[in-house]
Amino acid sequence: MKTFNVEEVISDFPILKRKNRGKHMVFLDNAATSQKPDSVIDAISHYYRESNSNVHRGVYELAEDAENLYHHSRKVISQYFNVSERETIFVRGATEGLNLIAHSFGVAHLKKGDEVIITEMEHHANIVPWQIVCEKVGANILVCPTLPDGSLDREWISGNISKEKVKLISLTAISNTLGTINPIAEIIFEAKKYGKTVVIDGAQSVPHERTDFSKLGCDFFTFSGHKVFGPMGIGVVLGKEKLLNDMSPYQGGGDMIDQVSFDGTTFARAPQKFEAGTPNVAGAIGLGKAIEYISQFSMGDISRHEHKLYEIAKNGLSEINGFLEHGTTKNKAAVLSFTIEGIHSHDLASFLDAQGIAIRTGHHCCQPLMKFLGVDATARASFAMYNTEEDSERLVEAVKKAVSILR
Ligand code: ALA
Repeated sequence: MKTFNVEEVISDFPILKRKNRGKHMVFLDNAATSQKPDSVIDAISHYYRESNSNVHRGVYELAEDAENLYHHSRKVISQYFNVSERETIFVRGATEGLNLIAHSFGVAHLKKGDEVIITEMEHHANIVPWQIVCEKVGANILVCPTLPDGSLDREWISGNISKEKVKLISLTAISNTLGTINPIAEIIFEAKKYGKTVVIDGAQSVPHERTDFSKLGCDFFTFSGHKVFGPMGIGVVLGKEKLLNDMSPYQGGGDMIDQVSFDGTTFARAPQKFEAGTPNVAGAIGLGKAIEYISQFSMGDISRHEHKLYEIAKNGLSEINGFLEHGTTKNKAAVLSFTIEGIHSHDLASFLDAQGIAIRTGHHCCQPLMKFLGVDATARASFAMYNTEEDSERLVEAVKKAVSILR
Protein backbone atom coordinates (compact mmCIF):
# COMPACT_ATOMS: atom_id res chain seq x y z
CA MET A 1 0.00 0.00 0.00
CA LYS A 2 1.22 3.48 -0.92
CA THR A 3 1.70 6.15 1.76
CA PHE A 4 -0.86 8.87 1.18
CA ASN A 5 0.77 12.07 -0.01
CA VAL A 6 -1.56 14.79 -1.25
CA GLU A 7 1.02 16.48 -3.51
CA GLU A 8 1.66 13.17 -5.28
CA VAL A 9 -2.07 12.57 -5.60
CA ILE A 10 -2.58 16.05 -7.10
CA SER A 11 0.08 15.37 -9.70
CA ASP A 12 -1.98 12.38 -10.89
CA PHE A 13 -4.99 14.59 -11.76
CA PRO A 14 -4.21 16.78 -14.78
CA ILE A 15 -7.39 18.88 -14.58
CA LEU A 16 -6.30 20.31 -11.24
CA LYS A 17 -3.74 22.42 -13.09
CA ARG A 18 -6.45 24.37 -14.91
CA LYS A 19 -7.80 27.65 -13.71
CA ASN A 20 -11.38 28.55 -12.93
CA ARG A 21 -12.28 32.13 -13.98
CA GLY A 22 -8.57 32.83 -14.29
CA LYS A 23 -7.79 31.80 -10.71
CA HIS A 24 -6.18 28.68 -9.28
CA MET A 25 -9.10 26.21 -9.21
CA VAL A 26 -10.40 24.87 -5.93
CA PHE A 27 -12.72 21.99 -6.80
CA LEU A 28 -15.07 21.25 -3.92
CA ASP A 29 -17.95 19.61 -5.78
CA ASN A 30 -16.74 16.05 -5.41
CA ALA A 31 -20.08 14.68 -4.23
CA ALA A 32 -21.45 15.65 -7.66
CA THR A 33 -18.57 14.14 -9.57
CA SER A 34 -14.88 13.52 -9.03
CA GLN A 35 -11.89 14.33 -11.21
CA LYS A 36 -9.98 11.61 -13.06
CA PRO A 37 -6.37 10.51 -12.67
CA ASP A 38 -4.06 10.05 -15.67
CA SER A 39 -4.32 6.27 -15.38
CA VAL A 40 -8.08 6.39 -16.04
CA ILE A 41 -7.82 8.95 -18.86
CA ASP A 42 -4.93 7.07 -20.48
CA ALA A 43 -6.70 3.71 -20.27
CA ILE A 44 -9.76 5.12 -22.06
CA SER A 45 -7.65 6.83 -24.70
CA HIS A 46 -5.53 3.69 -25.16
CA TYR A 47 -8.64 1.58 -25.56
CA TYR A 48 -9.97 3.77 -28.38
CA ARG A 49 -6.56 4.04 -30.03
CA GLU A 50 -5.58 0.38 -29.77
CA SER A 51 -8.38 -1.96 -28.80
CA ASN A 52 -11.78 -0.56 -29.77
CA SER A 53 -14.17 -3.27 -30.86
CA ASN A 54 -17.51 -4.63 -29.83
CA VAL A 55 -17.39 -7.38 -27.22
CA HIS A 56 -18.87 -10.90 -27.16
CA ARG A 57 -19.37 -10.80 -30.93
CA GLY A 58 -16.15 -10.79 -32.95
CA VAL A 59 -13.71 -13.68 -33.38
CA TYR A 60 -10.82 -11.47 -34.49
CA GLU A 61 -7.85 -10.38 -32.36
CA LEU A 62 -9.06 -6.82 -31.87
CA ALA A 63 -12.36 -8.04 -30.43
CA GLU A 64 -10.46 -10.40 -28.17
CA ASP A 65 -8.38 -7.49 -26.88
CA ALA A 66 -11.47 -5.45 -26.07
CA GLU A 67 -13.11 -8.43 -24.41
CA ASN A 68 -10.05 -9.20 -22.32
CA LEU A 69 -9.88 -5.61 -21.08
CA TYR A 70 -13.61 -5.56 -20.32
CA HIS A 71 -13.45 -8.83 -18.40
CA HIS A 72 -10.28 -7.83 -16.58
CA SER A 73 -12.05 -4.73 -15.34
CA ARG A 74 -14.98 -6.77 -14.01
CA LYS A 75 -12.45 -8.98 -12.22
CA VAL A 76 -10.65 -6.01 -10.63
CA ILE A 77 -13.95 -4.56 -9.42
CA SER A 78 -15.31 -7.83 -8.09
CA GLN A 79 -12.07 -8.55 -6.21
CA TYR A 80 -12.10 -5.08 -4.67
CA PHE A 81 -15.65 -5.62 -3.36
CA ASN A 82 -15.06 -9.27 -2.45
CA VAL A 83 -17.82 -10.59 -4.66
CA SER A 84 -17.84 -12.97 -7.63
CA GLU A 85 -17.74 -11.73 -11.21
CA ARG A 86 -21.14 -13.30 -11.80
CA GLU A 87 -22.48 -10.95 -9.12
CA THR A 88 -20.93 -7.82 -10.69
CA ILE A 89 -23.17 -6.14 -13.25
CA PHE A 90 -22.16 -3.11 -15.28
CA VAL A 91 -24.81 -0.40 -15.51
CA ARG A 92 -24.74 3.30 -16.39
CA GLY A 93 -24.51 4.46 -12.79
CA ALA A 94 -26.20 4.19 -9.40
CA THR A 95 -29.43 5.62 -10.84
CA GLU A 96 -29.67 2.86 -13.42
CA GLY A 97 -28.58 0.39 -10.74
CA LEU A 98 -31.45 1.33 -8.46
CA ASN A 99 -33.87 1.22 -11.38
CA LEU A 100 -32.63 -2.23 -12.31
CA ILE A 101 -33.09 -3.50 -8.75
CA ALA A 102 -36.52 -1.89 -8.33
CA HIS A 103 -37.83 -3.04 -11.71
CA SER A 104 -36.29 -6.50 -11.86
CA PHE A 105 -36.40 -7.53 -8.23
CA GLY A 106 -39.07 -5.19 -6.88
CA VAL A 107 -41.73 -5.88 -9.50
CA ALA A 108 -41.35 -9.64 -9.06
CA HIS A 109 -41.26 -9.73 -5.27
CA LEU A 110 -43.49 -6.90 -4.10
CA LYS A 111 -47.25 -7.25 -4.13
CA LYS A 112 -50.31 -5.27 -3.17
CA GLY A 113 -50.18 -4.10 0.44
CA ASP A 114 -46.44 -4.74 0.89
CA GLU A 115 -44.25 -1.99 2.30
CA VAL A 116 -40.86 -0.68 1.24
CA ILE A 117 -38.75 1.38 3.64
CA ILE A 118 -36.65 4.24 2.33
CA THR A 119 -35.34 7.24 4.27
CA GLU A 120 -35.98 10.95 4.26
CA MET A 121 -32.39 11.67 3.25
CA GLU A 122 -32.48 9.63 0.04
CA HIS A 123 -31.41 11.04 -3.30
CA HIS A 124 -34.27 11.13 -5.82
CA ALA A 125 -32.62 8.10 -7.48
CA ASN A 126 -33.54 6.02 -4.44
CA ILE A 127 -37.04 7.44 -4.15
CA VAL A 128 -38.55 7.68 -7.62
CA PRO A 129 -37.83 4.11 -8.88
CA TRP A 130 -39.50 2.72 -5.74
CA GLN A 131 -42.48 5.05 -6.21
CA ILE A 132 -42.90 3.85 -9.80
CA VAL A 133 -42.65 0.19 -8.83
CA CYS A 134 -44.84 0.50 -5.73
CA GLU A 135 -47.53 2.23 -7.74
CA LYS A 136 -47.35 -0.53 -10.33
CA VAL A 137 -47.75 -3.39 -7.84
CA GLY A 138 -49.89 -1.63 -5.23
CA ALA A 139 -47.21 -1.55 -2.52
CA ASN A 140 -46.58 1.38 -0.16
CA ILE A 141 -43.52 3.36 0.83
CA LEU A 142 -42.64 4.05 4.46
CA VAL A 143 -40.18 6.85 5.11
CA CYS A 144 -37.70 6.70 7.98
CA PRO A 145 -37.40 10.21 9.46
CA THR A 146 -34.19 12.16 9.91
CA LEU A 147 -33.20 13.47 13.35
CA PRO A 148 -32.21 17.14 13.79
CA ASP A 149 -28.48 16.30 13.65
CA GLY A 150 -28.97 14.67 10.24
CA SER A 151 -28.76 11.09 11.44
CA LEU A 152 -31.37 8.44 10.80
CA ASP A 153 -34.02 7.71 13.37
CA ARG A 154 -32.69 4.27 14.29
CA GLU A 155 -35.50 3.62 16.73
CA TRP A 156 -37.99 4.15 13.92
CA ILE A 157 -36.18 1.53 11.84
CA SER A 158 -36.13 -0.95 14.73
CA GLY A 159 -39.81 -0.31 15.29
CA ASN A 160 -40.76 -0.92 11.66
CA ILE A 161 -38.31 -3.36 10.12
CA SER A 162 -39.85 -6.40 11.81
CA LYS A 163 -43.35 -5.67 10.48
CA GLU A 164 -44.82 -8.46 8.42
CA LYS A 165 -45.79 -6.12 5.57
CA VAL A 166 -42.29 -4.65 5.22
CA LYS A 167 -40.46 -6.60 2.55
CA LEU A 168 -37.54 -4.42 1.60
CA ILE A 169 -35.41 -1.53 2.81
CA SER A 170 -33.39 0.62 0.43
CA LEU A 171 -31.09 3.29 1.85
CA THR A 172 -28.03 5.30 1.16
CA ALA A 173 -24.73 4.44 2.87
CA ILE A 174 -23.78 8.14 3.00
CA SER A 175 -26.07 11.12 2.43
CA ASN A 176 -24.94 13.19 -0.55
CA THR A 177 -26.34 16.33 1.08
CA LEU A 178 -25.55 15.94 4.77
CA GLY A 179 -22.58 13.59 4.63
CA THR A 180 -24.23 11.41 7.30
CA ILE A 181 -22.69 7.95 7.40
CA ASN A 182 -25.59 5.62 8.04
CA PRO A 183 -25.04 2.55 10.24
CA ILE A 184 -25.74 0.23 7.32
CA ALA A 185 -23.99 -2.84 8.78
CA GLU A 186 -26.17 -2.61 11.88
CA ILE A 187 -29.34 -2.02 9.84
CA ILE A 188 -28.55 -4.91 7.48
CA PHE A 189 -27.98 -7.21 10.45
CA GLU A 190 -31.30 -6.20 11.96
CA ALA A 191 -33.20 -6.44 8.66
CA LYS A 192 -31.75 -9.87 7.95
CA LYS A 193 -32.96 -11.17 11.33
CA TYR A 194 -36.45 -10.68 9.93
CA GLY A 195 -35.64 -11.92 6.44
CA LYS A 196 -35.98 -8.54 4.69
CA THR A 197 -34.26 -7.62 1.44
CA VAL A 198 -31.69 -4.83 1.78
CA VAL A 199 -30.55 -2.50 -1.01
CA ILE A 200 -27.67 -0.09 -0.42
CA ASP A 201 -27.02 3.02 -2.51
CA GLY A 202 -23.24 3.29 -2.31
CA ALA A 203 -22.86 6.26 -4.70
CA GLN A 204 -21.36 8.48 -1.99
CA SER A 205 -19.62 5.84 0.11
CA VAL A 206 -17.35 4.10 -2.41
CA PRO A 207 -15.01 7.13 -2.80
CA HIS A 208 -14.58 7.35 0.99
CA GLU A 209 -14.74 3.87 2.51
CA ARG A 210 -14.06 0.31 1.45
CA THR A 211 -16.99 -2.06 1.05
CA ASP A 212 -16.75 -5.82 1.45
CA PHE A 213 -20.01 -6.89 -0.18
CA SER A 214 -19.88 -10.46 1.10
CA LYS A 215 -19.20 -9.39 4.68
CA LEU A 216 -21.73 -6.55 4.62
CA GLY A 217 -24.52 -9.02 3.94
CA CYS A 218 -26.91 -6.80 1.98
CA ASP A 219 -28.66 -8.20 -1.08
CA PHE A 220 -27.82 -5.43 -3.54
CA PHE A 221 -25.27 -2.61 -3.56
CA THR A 222 -24.89 -0.07 -6.34
CA PHE A 223 -22.54 2.80 -7.12
CA SER A 224 -21.48 5.17 -9.92
CA GLY A 225 -18.03 5.15 -11.48
CA HIS A 226 -17.74 8.91 -11.92
CA LYS A 227 -17.89 9.64 -8.19
CA VAL A 228 -14.95 7.36 -7.53
CA PHE A 229 -12.49 8.91 -10.02
CA GLY A 230 -13.81 6.79 -12.91
CA PRO A 231 -15.69 7.84 -16.05
CA MET A 232 -19.29 8.99 -16.32
CA GLY A 233 -21.86 6.60 -17.78
CA ILE A 234 -20.62 3.51 -15.99
CA GLY A 235 -21.54 2.05 -12.62
CA VAL A 236 -22.06 -1.29 -10.98
CA VAL A 237 -24.75 -3.34 -9.28
CA LEU A 238 -23.49 -6.01 -6.92
CA GLY A 239 -26.15 -8.58 -6.17
CA LYS A 240 -26.36 -11.96 -4.49
CA GLU A 241 -26.05 -14.64 -7.13
CA LYS A 242 -29.11 -16.58 -6.10
CA LEU A 243 -31.31 -13.49 -6.33
CA LEU A 244 -29.82 -12.47 -9.66
CA ASN A 245 -30.42 -15.93 -11.10
CA ASP A 246 -34.07 -15.82 -10.08
CA MET A 247 -34.63 -12.29 -11.39
CA SER A 248 -35.95 -11.42 -14.83
CA PRO A 249 -34.11 -8.74 -16.77
CA TYR A 250 -35.86 -5.40 -17.14
CA GLN A 251 -34.18 -4.54 -20.43
CA GLY A 252 -34.03 -6.90 -23.38
CA GLY A 253 -31.77 -6.90 -26.41
CA GLY A 254 -28.56 -8.32 -27.74
CA ASP A 255 -25.98 -10.02 -25.56
CA MET A 256 -28.32 -10.88 -22.70
CA ILE A 257 -29.97 -13.91 -24.25
CA ASP A 258 -29.39 -17.62 -24.46
CA GLN A 259 -31.86 -18.47 -27.28
CA VAL A 260 -34.32 -16.25 -29.11
CA SER A 261 -37.23 -17.43 -31.22
CA PHE A 262 -40.63 -15.95 -31.99
CA ASP A 263 -42.07 -18.44 -29.52
CA GLY A 264 -40.02 -16.99 -26.68
CA THR A 265 -36.57 -16.20 -25.35
CA THR A 266 -34.31 -17.72 -22.75
CA PHE A 267 -31.77 -15.55 -21.03
CA ALA A 268 -28.05 -15.73 -20.40
CA ARG A 269 -26.84 -16.07 -16.82
CA ALA A 270 -26.00 -13.04 -14.67
CA PRO A 271 -24.28 -10.70 -15.20
CA GLN A 272 -24.90 -10.85 -19.00
CA LYS A 273 -28.64 -11.19 -18.42
CA PHE A 274 -28.67 -7.61 -17.11
CA GLU A 275 -26.32 -6.07 -19.67
CA ALA A 276 -28.49 -5.74 -22.77
CA GLY A 277 -26.94 -4.16 -25.84
CA THR A 278 -23.41 -3.01 -26.55
CA PRO A 279 -21.86 -2.20 -23.18
CA ASN A 280 -19.84 0.86 -22.24
CA VAL A 281 -16.55 -0.98 -22.70
CA ALA A 282 -14.35 2.10 -22.40
CA GLY A 283 -16.24 3.16 -19.28
CA ALA A 284 -15.82 -0.25 -17.68
CA ILE A 285 -12.10 -0.22 -18.45
CA GLY A 286 -11.79 3.28 -16.98
CA LEU A 287 -13.68 2.24 -13.86
CA GLY A 288 -11.40 -0.75 -13.39
CA LYS A 289 -8.44 1.64 -13.51
CA ALA A 290 -10.11 3.97 -11.01
CA ILE A 291 -10.61 1.09 -8.60
CA GLU A 292 -6.97 0.10 -9.07
CA TYR A 293 -6.05 3.71 -8.39
CA ILE A 294 -7.84 3.93 -5.03
CA SER A 295 -6.69 0.42 -4.08
CA GLN A 296 -3.17 1.82 -3.77
CA PHE A 297 -4.18 3.79 -0.68
CA SER A 298 -5.63 3.05 2.70
CA MET A 299 -9.20 4.40 2.70
CA GLY A 300 -8.58 5.34 6.36
CA ASP A 301 -5.75 7.68 5.26
CA ILE A 302 -7.98 9.24 2.61
CA SER A 303 -10.82 9.73 5.04
CA ARG A 304 -8.54 11.26 7.74
CA HIS A 305 -7.13 13.68 5.17
CA GLU A 306 -10.59 14.70 3.94
CA HIS A 307 -11.86 15.15 7.50
CA LYS A 308 -9.02 17.46 8.38
CA LEU A 309 -10.03 19.69 5.44
CA TYR A 310 -13.67 19.53 6.42
CA GLU A 311 -12.80 20.59 10.00
CA ILE A 312 -10.73 23.55 8.79
CA ALA A 313 -13.58 24.71 6.57
CA LYS A 314 -16.22 24.17 9.21
CA ASN A 315 -14.30 25.92 11.98
CA GLY A 316 -13.53 28.87 9.73
CA LEU A 317 -17.09 29.24 8.45
CA SER A 318 -18.52 28.86 11.96
CA GLU A 319 -17.06 32.30 12.77
CA ILE A 320 -19.58 33.85 10.34
CA ASN A 321 -22.71 35.26 11.88
CA GLY A 322 -25.74 33.34 10.62
CA PHE A 323 -23.75 30.30 9.40
CA LEU A 324 -25.69 27.08 9.83
CA GLU A 325 -24.34 23.63 9.04
CA HIS A 326 -26.93 21.07 7.93
CA GLY A 327 -25.95 17.60 9.12
CA THR A 328 -23.93 17.79 12.31
CA THR A 329 -23.83 14.17 13.40
CA LYS A 330 -20.33 13.03 14.42
CA ASN A 331 -20.31 10.11 12.07
CA LYS A 332 -20.16 11.90 8.76
CA ALA A 333 -18.12 12.08 5.58
CA ALA A 334 -16.30 15.26 4.55
CA VAL A 335 -19.37 17.02 3.19
CA LEU A 336 -20.18 20.50 4.46
CA SER A 337 -23.72 21.60 3.63
CA PHE A 338 -24.60 25.04 4.92
CA THR A 339 -26.72 28.14 4.66
CA ILE A 340 -25.87 31.67 5.69
CA GLU A 341 -28.66 33.88 6.92
CA GLY A 342 -29.55 36.62 4.50
CA ILE A 343 -27.53 35.21 1.60
CA HIS A 344 -28.95 33.01 -1.10
CA SER A 345 -26.81 29.92 -1.75
CA HIS A 346 -26.82 30.56 -5.51
CA ASP A 347 -25.46 34.09 -5.05
CA LEU A 348 -22.79 32.70 -2.78
CA ALA A 349 -21.82 30.01 -5.30
CA SER A 350 -21.57 32.57 -8.11
CA PHE A 351 -19.36 34.75 -5.94
CA LEU A 352 -17.13 31.77 -5.11
CA ASP A 353 -16.96 30.79 -8.78
CA ALA A 354 -15.46 34.20 -9.55
CA GLN A 355 -12.81 33.42 -6.92
CA GLY A 356 -11.97 30.11 -8.64
CA ILE A 357 -13.92 27.96 -6.20
CA ALA A 358 -16.43 25.31 -7.35
CA ILE A 359 -19.13 24.20 -4.94
CA ARG A 360 -22.66 22.96 -5.52
CA THR A 361 -25.83 24.70 -4.46
CA GLY A 362 -29.44 23.70 -4.78
CA HIS A 363 -31.56 20.84 -3.48
CA HIS A 364 -28.92 18.22 -4.37
CA CYS A 365 -31.65 15.94 -5.83
CA CYS A 366 -33.05 15.64 -2.29
CA GLN A 367 -36.21 17.75 -2.30
CA PRO A 368 -37.90 15.85 0.57
CA LEU A 369 -34.78 16.36 2.71
CA MET A 370 -34.79 20.10 1.90
CA LYS A 371 -38.37 20.22 3.13
CA PHE A 372 -37.27 18.63 6.40
CA LEU A 373 -34.39 21.12 6.70
CA GLY A 374 -36.80 23.95 5.99
CA VAL A 375 -34.70 25.42 3.18
CA ASP A 376 -34.94 25.58 -0.63
CA ALA A 377 -31.25 25.06 -1.14
CA THR A 378 -27.95 24.67 0.65
CA ALA A 379 -24.39 25.44 -0.38
CA ARG A 380 -22.30 22.26 -0.31
CA ALA A 381 -18.55 21.87 -0.22
CA SER A 382 -17.58 18.23 -0.64
CA PHE A 383 -13.97 17.12 -0.28
CA ALA A 384 -11.89 14.51 -2.08
CA MET A 385 -8.44 13.02 -1.63
CA TYR A 386 -6.78 15.66 -3.87
CA ASN A 387 -8.04 18.68 -1.92
CA THR A 388 -5.66 20.57 0.33
CA GLU A 389 -5.69 22.65 3.51
CA GLU A 390 -5.18 25.66 1.28
CA ASP A 391 -8.42 24.77 -0.55
CA SER A 392 -10.31 24.88 2.76
CA GLU A 393 -8.67 28.15 3.74
CA ARG A 394 -9.50 29.68 0.35
CA LEU A 395 -13.12 28.59 0.77
CA VAL A 396 -13.37 30.21 4.21
CA GLU A 397 -11.72 33.41 3.08
CA ALA A 398 -13.93 33.67 -0.02
CA VAL A 399 -17.16 32.98 1.88
CA LYS A 400 -16.24 35.65 4.45
CA LYS A 401 -15.57 38.09 1.63
CA ALA A 402 -18.89 37.16 -0.01
CA VAL A 403 -20.74 37.79 3.24
CA SER A 404 -19.17 41.20 3.70
CA ILE A 405 -20.14 42.20 0.15
CA LEU A 406 -23.49 40.47 -0.36
CA ARG A 407 -25.02 41.33 3.01
N1 ALA B 1 -25.95 13.22 -6.83
C1 ALA B 1 -24.99 14.21 -7.19
C2 ALA B 1 -24.82 15.25 -6.11
O1 ALA B 1 -25.05 14.99 -4.97
C3 ALA B 1 -25.18 14.76 -8.53
O2 ALA B 1 -24.42 16.35 -6.41
